[in-house]
Amino acid sequence: MQPIKQFMQDYPGQIKSKLPQVGTTIFTVMSQLAAENNAINLSQGFPDFESDKALIKMVSDAMAKGMNQYAPMAGLMALREQIAIKTEKLYGVTYNPDTEITVTAGGTQAIFTAITAIIKEGDEVIIFTPAYDCYGPAIELNGGKPMYVQLFAPEYKIDWNHVKKLISQRTKMIIINTPHNPTGKIVTKNDMVQLEKIVQNTDIIIISDEVYEHIIFDKQKHQSASKFPHLAERSFIISSFGKTFHNTGWKMGYCLAPSNLMKEFRKAHQFIVFSVNTPIQYALSEYLKNENNYLELSSFYQQKRDFFVNQIKDSKFKIIPSQGTYFQLLSYADISNEKDTDFAIFLTKKHKIASIPVSVFYHKNTDEKVLRFCFAKKEETLKYAADILNKIV
Ligand SMILES: Cc1ncc(COP(=O)(O)O)c(C=O)c1O
Repeated sequence: MQPIKQFMQDYPGQIKSKLPQVGTTIFTVMSQLAAENNAINLSQGFPDFESDKALIKMVSDAMAKGMNQYAPMAGLMALREQIAIKTEKLYGVTYNPDTEITVTAGGTQAIFTAITAIIKEGDEVIIFTPAYDCYGPAIELNGGKPMYVQLFAPEYKIDWNHVKKLISQRTKMIIINTPHNPTGKIVTKNDMVQLEKIVQNTDIIIISDEVYEHIIFDKQKHQSASKFPHLAERSFIISSFGKTFHNTGWKMGYCLAPSNLMKEFRKAHQFIVFSVNTPIQYALSEYLKNENNYLELSSFYQQKRDFFVNQIKDSKFKIIPSQGTYFQLLSYADISNEKDTDFAIFLTKKHKIASIPVSVFYHKNTDEKVLRFCFAKKEETLKYAADILNKIV
């Protein structure tokens, strides 16, 4: 058999990568390393337990009933209506399901679509690092320029003066994320008020990545951009059903935005994906009717966080408190001086536990000797992981 001939094989310089810096993501690398080394995998952010059987049945019932063709471009109206009800109940804001809510193939597609709809060549977008890895490449693919504000361990507080200084005529967008991946921190009401002041009287648009909106601990309140009128009027708010209902592989989410922004969003959305999974939309529209299905998520994950943290409290790792998401940061500064990427590989190979080094979420690979562990796992998995961590000195 002949291997397929590569396009321009003899002239490799002819293909000018649009993302020359981008390689395989750390999540793939660490998960592969975990598999090769038979290590417990707390690196990638997904549960090792099943989604509710009742929800799975709703999906198969919808399929059996023949709900298998294209959904409307913006999503099934029944689901958009339930999203509107949930948003109003939680944040006291009304989004019109007809013109202000779009169902997407997960949070990532919603973020990419919002950036694509707005960002043009030369536009600057402020992002806070460490950051979830899809923001930068999506900005660059659209000709924009990411402008970075660094957050530092252990508080990861936003320096709003720094943000103010970065703003220029070219600033088109600011992307915030709360609860925050990878740090597990949340923004305060005061942070949102500061942001509101900064963007007032500008034409800056906000993406508020709120995919962990239902995973927030210690009775804290989620500060959705929808609650702040001067932010809501200029925000794309992103949520993910995968995070909320333990089925990240279904890739379902949604975007909220005022109708003038949503109009632009849908122009891009219809050519990126057109519409998303019909039977799952039917199922979610039913499942959302029981508010406990999302209201109980915080206490569900808080128990897991507390269990994990309690198990490792006497280890040599320093715990950086997690306020939301299903991530726990641990500092190993008292154990080793190695680079965090090297230390994460060492832990995977030698101690059979995989994590994500936080430096990979920084644009300059800032290394503060911190690793991210995902605790969206069964108790037995967390106990097993804790036993390993306790032995590392
Ligand atoms: C902060 C953040 N935003 C967005 C996403 C993407 O969500 P989805 O899996 O629904 O595309 C993730 C997933 O890990 C995330 O952590």
